[in-house]
Amino acid sequence: MPLFDVYPLYDVTPVSGKGIHVYDDQGTEYLDLYGGHAVISIGHAHPNYVKAVTTQVETLGFYSNAIQNPLQKELANKLEALSGCKDYQLFLVNSGAEANENALKLASFKTGKKRVVAFKKGFHGRTSAAVAATDNQNIVAPINAQQEVTILELNDVEGVKRELEKGDVCAVIVEFIQGIGGLDQGTAEFFEQVDALCKANNAMFVADEIQCGYARSGKFFAFQHYNVTPDIISLAKGMGNGFPIGGILIHPDIEAKYGMLGTTFGGNHLACAAGLAVLNTIESENLLANVNEMGAYFMEKAKEIPQIKEIKGRGLMLGLEFDFEVGDLRKELIYNYKIFTGGAANKKLLRILPPLNIEKAHLDQFFELLKVALKEVEIKA
Ligand SMILES: Cc1ncc(COP(=O)(O)O)c(C=O)c1O
Repeated sequence: MPLFDVYPLYDVTPVSGKGIHVYDDQGTEYLDLYGGHAVISIGHAHPNYVKAVTTQVETLGFYSNAIQNPLQKELANKLEALSGCKDYQLFLVNSGAEANENALKLASFKTGKKRVVAFKKGFHGRTSAAVAATDNQNIVAPINAQQEVTILELNDVEGVKRELEKGDVCAVIVEFIQGIGGLDQGTAEFFEQVDALCKANNAMFVADEIQCGYARSGKFFAFQHYNVTPDIISLAKGMGNGFPIGGILIHPDIEAKYGMLGTTFGGNHLACAAGLAVLNTIESENLLANVNEMGAYFMEKAKEIPQIKEIKGRGLMLGLEFDFEVGDLRKELIYNYKIFTGGAANKKLLRILPPLNIEKAHLDQFFELLKVALKEVEIKA
């Protein structure tokens, strides 16, 4: 049976990973500066992670959400302690799109309204309301297009005010650092005004932290760089270091009712074990400090390369913008220099999303090889 052919693939077959590296079926080592789309947070095959997942699957891998599962409470408590999101409530799901679906559904339940405001170059997932709120018409099917969504320019405070004052908006959803769009960020004034406008107009402020959250930006959540209080925070990607887990943090003002949300797999024992191993490692290895140190080091090194026109992002969610499209450069890096990097909707941007425990030596290696690869690409052009 053929696979449904929706992914253009690089001709590389990783079969194992350790720390910041993956190894292909020929035994070749690759430096992983992409973490499989910002997913690998504590490194490949981290011993804490391997031990926690192995022990859990040997004990009890799954039971439904109809029984007591103390691991969910343990995960919620750890998340509250590390994120500082005091008294928020946790609902667990399996992926980023599902987290945003539930965030928007909850916003609609809470406010009794149904229109969503989202932003240009935003990405929120590929299902129902999440994809309708995503600024990419190519992935919005007619069935998704029936959702009521208004997409505004980032930083358009007046637009947000105008739309919210119409009285039918249940949620404003935003990435505090855009991922797939290309690492653009709104201004502090914009985020803080949107927060205030949501509160004044009975709309929920949804922080999509699926890519920029979980320590990646140098704070536990990217919204914490600003003076805002989101009503709902969506999570996934780095939360499970590769195990499919997502969730929403829900402000204490939003009350739960039995049956309001639900899922078969969300919050299962194995997912919680993976999620706890990630949080325990972020804490025990002080990865937030490492993200800040390595992010600053990366920025300094990037300034030495004249072909880089702009350095975007924060912490270890970074983008290098060139004045040419980077498709060939990415191929050069992966095939000839054995380095994984990412692309973005902005075709001139190289996206860097390494595991959060990356070290200076890895970044030095990247910049040395990037210089050589840039020369190669220039010669071939
Ligand atoms: C900001 C953001 N939101 C939502 C999603 C969707 O997550 P998933 O692919 O797990 O459904 C992504 C995935 O790239 C993302 O970057």
